[in-house]
Amino acid sequence: MSFITNNCTFRVLNKILITQCEPFACSENDLNEFFLKDCVAYSKDLFGKTYCFTLDKNPKKIVCAFTISNDSIKAKLLPKVSQNKLNRKINNQKRSLKSYPAVLIGRLGVNTNFEGNGIGQELMNFVKAWFIDEENKTGCRFLVVDSYNKERPISYYSKNGFKFIFDSEEEEKEYSGIISDDPLNTRLMYFDLILLATGN
Ligand SMILES: CC(C)(COP(=O)(O)OP(=O)(O)OC[C@H]1O[C@@H](n2cnc3c(N)ncnc32)[C@H](O)[C@@H]1OP(=O)(O)O)[C@@H](O)C(=O)NCCC(=O)NCCS
Repeated sequence: MSFITNNCTFRVLNKILITQCEPFACSENDLNEFFLKDCVAYSKDLFGKTYCFTLDKNPKKIVCAFTISNDSIKAKLLPKVSQNKLNRKINNQKRSLKSYPAVLIGRLGVNTNFEGNGIGQELMNFVKAWFIDEENKTGCRFLVVDSYNKERPISYYSKNGFKFIFDSEEEEKEYSGIISDDPLNTRLMYFDLILLATGN
């Protein structure tokens, strides 16, 4: 039984909803700030759409929220090992494509009062299901995320089947143009939706 589908309502996080709800509070303040102040302008500029689940018994409470945008993986620009990893399940004729269609999970958070109860996993299953749905308007092969380089989010995305695009932090720094002494604040990860797609 899924908590978010049985006890919550799925909504676009727009200006009206933000004013009606308590400020969203996950454990990353940057994200809270974004969901409170920036996501409406972001959506207006067509950079990303933000959605949330509100609690039915207290509709002012946002249980979890996420922002998604169209994206692509330019496999040819990646190290050979990364290309091979991505290509593993791509059929031979399509391996020469310049880029693979993807959706970026730009922001994602679970309200601290609800953390550690499987809500994050339910939310990820919900997002995955969207992009393998036959009604999906475009093709989308990969989910991509630039995860905070911290134990909890990395463990969360790994648990949900995401893999690192780059084999090591050193390699990711090199390809991202980060000088080697600077910390790597985020790690690029992907999920291949073909693992879930059926009937194609
Ligand atoms: C990361 C986050 C989304 C996880 O949400 P959640 O609802 O607590 O996640 P779940 O309960 O579904 O847990 C799924 C997995 O995440 C990992 N995880 C969750 N809490 C964790 C913790 N305190 N420490 C380490 N790993 C943790 C575990 O792998 C867990 O699987 P398990 O329960 O089998 O061990 C949530 O902690 C959050 O909003 N964090 C702040 C924002 C953020 O970091 N967003 C992601 C980066 S953009």
